[in-house]
Amino acid sequence: MTKLAFIGIDVGTSGIKALAVDLEGNILASHNEHLNIIIQKPGWTEQNPLEWWSATVKSLKAISQSLKSQKVNFLSIGLSGQMHSLVILDKNDNPLDNAILWNDGRTTEECNFIKERSGENLGKITGNPALEGFTAPKIIWLKNNKPKLFSKIKHMMMPKDYIRFKLTGEKFSEPTDASGTLLYDIHKNKWSSTMSSILDIDVSLFPKIITSNDISGYLKKDIAEQTGLKNTIPIVAGSADNACASLGAGVLNEGSLMLTVGTSGAVVAPSTKPEFDPLLRVHLMRHVSPKTWYKMGVILSAGGALDWWSKISDVKNIQDLINEIPDNPKKKEDILFLPYITGERTPYANPKARGVFFGLNAKTSRADLTYSVLQGIALALRDSLNLISTKNKINNAVLVGGGAKSKKWQKIIADTLQLNIMLIGQSEGASLGAAMLASCYSKEYFNSINEVASNWISVKDKIEPNHNESDYYSELHSRYSNLYNSIKSEYE
Ligand code: XUL
Repeated sequence: MTKLAFIGIDVGTSGIKALAVDLEGNILASHNEHLNIIIQKPGWTEQNPLEWWSATVKSLKAISQSLKSQKVNFLSIGLSGQMHSLVILDKNDNPLDNAILWNDGRTTEECNFIKERSGENLGKITGNPALEGFTAPKIIWLKNNKPKLFSKIKHMMMPKDYIRFKLTGEKFSEPTDASGTLLYDIHKNKWSSTMSSILDIDVSLFPKIITSNDISGYLKKDIAEQTGLKNTIPIVAGSADNACASLGAGVLNEGSLMLTVGTSGAVVAPSTKPEFDPLLRVHLMRHVSPKTWYKMGVILSAGGALDWWSKISDVKNIQDLINEIPDNPKKKEDILFLPYITGERTPYANPKARGVFFGLNAKTSRADLTYSVLQGIALALRDSLNLISTKNKINNAVLVGGGAKSKKWQKIIADTLQLNIMLIGQSEGASLGAAMLASCYSKEYFNSINEVASNWISVKDKIEPNHNESDYYSELHSRYSNLYNSIKSEYE
């Protein structure tokens, strides 16, 4: 019998991930293709959009090959992708340069210019601060630093929208990714003509906006041939990776919370009102359904800091490294780790911040340091949680991403944030959310994203924090914040 399935593709930073999901939410196949980051200078991060593309083709091919013997009818493909990173195309639709990524810190001057020029408009219209990672400062940086190249730009878009263009030949974006540009009106749900004229950026170079579960086009014939898929498959708009991850975690409604630990880490809280933090410490983005938004705190290096540590310590398999940590690490010998290896977003908005180990002694072991890395990332998540759960205390969070896979890390996160950590069956994160959006492009299979979520996602395990240690973790968090505050002038 022919099986029906949806494909989700996530254009991540550490890799492209594609998966196929059946109507009941079972993962039939999944594939990862590793991606490299180009670091031309400390603080700069870039990727070649053509590498995303060749990795996407390889991933789709791998999915269709692995299910060849099972007669699968792929109904649609949904897209998710890293936010903010800027793809620029010339008049022939070819990338003019590498994409400058979301964790690149080169645009401090441009951010100051945006702050000065836009004043209160920035928060009121876009819901967000002028931060190095966002898209508008990258455009202004190109104008200021590569004017020749800038003059050749005919189209600008987000990573997943570039992959859409390669798959379908169509240029579209959708509200969740547009909200990460500083050029989108998150209330009126359209490109902002006010921000466009204040910043002198032509927003008509960005794609037209459609809804996240709309069909954006169909798989091109030559790509269908290359990947072994059929060319009539609709490609659904999709959404930004953090929005997709929250779908994939079943975190759709106000009062629920998602923690995601990928290269970056994020704390995401859906909301039915576009309430922005007056101090702009947390982000406010459009969510996938009309009249929904989400608040988000972002730490730039979560899994990214652990990857760095695994490279340094020469243990390739991160789980092996984590297994070295004893079951009850000695808390009195706390070593603090600030995971700011690519600067930090929430709460400090400081691209110059850098990583720190503090409190080493002559007996410090690799396992102690690994523990402090996991702990430091959890403490950074706690910073975001504190800013998000101000009015109503949140007690439960769904954890997804690579960090969701290690038992020890799950417990560290539960204790450090003093939250019940809920684990869902498949912590596939953003690629699952992309497949969910793909599954409701028409009402034929599911009526709404909430219906898909209730069919596909269920909590399988709950990790409770040790409530007796609540004071200890509050103190630890204060020590962690004090450490940053006492050395921050050194970063200058
Ligand atoms: C969110 C952000 C990151 C990227 C990672 O604002 O910059 O989480 O989306 O892919």
